[in-house]
Amino acid sequence: MIGIGLIGYGYWGPNLLRNFWNNPHCDVKAVADARQERLSLVGKQYPAITLTTNAKDLLHNSDVDAVVIATPVQTHYALAKEALQNGKHVLIEKPMTANSAEARELMELADSKGLTLMVDHTFLYTGAVAKIHELVDSGTIGDLAYFDSTRINLGLFQPDVNVLWDLAPHDLSILLHIEKRMPRSVNATGISHTANGIENIAFMTVNYDHDFIAHFNCSWTSPVKVRQTLIGGKQKMVVYNDLEPSEKIRVYDTGYKHNSEEEKVKIMVEYRTGDVYIPKIDTQEALYKMTLDFAAAIMEGKAPMASAELGCRVVMLLEAAQQSINANGKEIKL
Ligand SMILES: NC(=O)c1ccc[n+]([C@@H]2O[C@H](COP(=O)([O-])OP(=O)(O)OC[C@H]3O[C@@H](n4cnc5c(N)ncnc54)[C@H](O)[C@@H]3O)[C@@H](O)[C@H]2O)c1
Repeated sequence: MIGIGLIGYGYWGPNLLRNFWNNPHCDVKAVADARQERLSLVGKQYPAITLTTNAKDLLHNSDVDAVVIATPVQTHYALAKEALQNGKHVLIEKPMTANSAEARELMELADSKGLTLMVDHTFLYTGAVAKIHELVDSGTIGDLAYFDSTRINLGLFQPDVNVLWDLAPHDLSILLHIEKRMPRSVNATGISHTANGIENIAFMTVNYDHDFIAHFNCSWTSPVKVRQTLIGGKQKMVVYNDLEPSEKIRVYDTGYKHNSEEEKVKIMVEYRTGDVYIPKIDTQEALYKMTLDFAAAIMEGKAPMASAELGCRVVMLLEAAQQSINANGKEIKL
């Protein structure tokens, strides 16, 4: 049994606690939150768990083998570093850290100590993303041509991070999961409608050296909620609508071709629109599967799907996007 200690019982922490509690390989030993009122809620539901307002108590608790960090991003690095230095495996909430230097340092520390370091990119464990991965990997939709995601709603303006840091980690992790080649550069623009200068609308493009492009539209300022990703392959195209209760994925047998080199030069395109099908997807809770992967990574010493390396690459893209926004959309090479 892996002794789990959770730091942060705000909005997301309760979901982590419930899933680690149900994980047969894990035993939740302790929860830390700076706010006593949050700990009281844990105490009512889980009387056996040790509670503390000081994260250090948990980081030095010998019953705790692995620390789960669900606090705001600015605190991730220091807490994760201390946990690793004390010989604990670590799961960090997304985004991994506030900058890529911190992420790399944590990865090196975990490697040098032979400890598991993972990032909770929950979406990778959803049935929908597993199906998209399968459609791409099996060659069913053909070579990827584009990835275009929209994640907008009337969202809570965050006081410390902009809309890309808040919303794009989900979509960036999916992109990096299905397209393994490293991007070349990033362009981004955005606007802040508040006095703190933190962008509440932003558009980000990730450029590649091969025939593929990825685009992200994130906003806390939309009257409607949209969670939609278009993934275009040379053979088929996928529409992933995360707001659909069950039919989240539609595969369109849609494409185009040039019948000859001459037609290609003349930009004469022949379109093909065929059937649309809705694949069945796994509906098991993604966060539970994430906890199983974390436990398996610790027990078997293997890299989890949402590895620290993937988490670090997400942070690198976010960092480049922020640089580009600050430079009015300038292309930032990676
Ligand atoms: N994977 C997902 O889908 C998902 C969803 C929501 C949030 N998150 C991530 O989870 C993390 C937490 O987000 P949230 O919305 O739950 O934040 P939150 O502000 O609601 O909760 C954070 C909690 O951490 C506590 N805390 C902060 N610093 C602490 C410290 N040093 N020691 C002890 N307690 C401390 C606070 O008191 C608070 O209760 C963020 O990284 C966020 O991006 C992930």
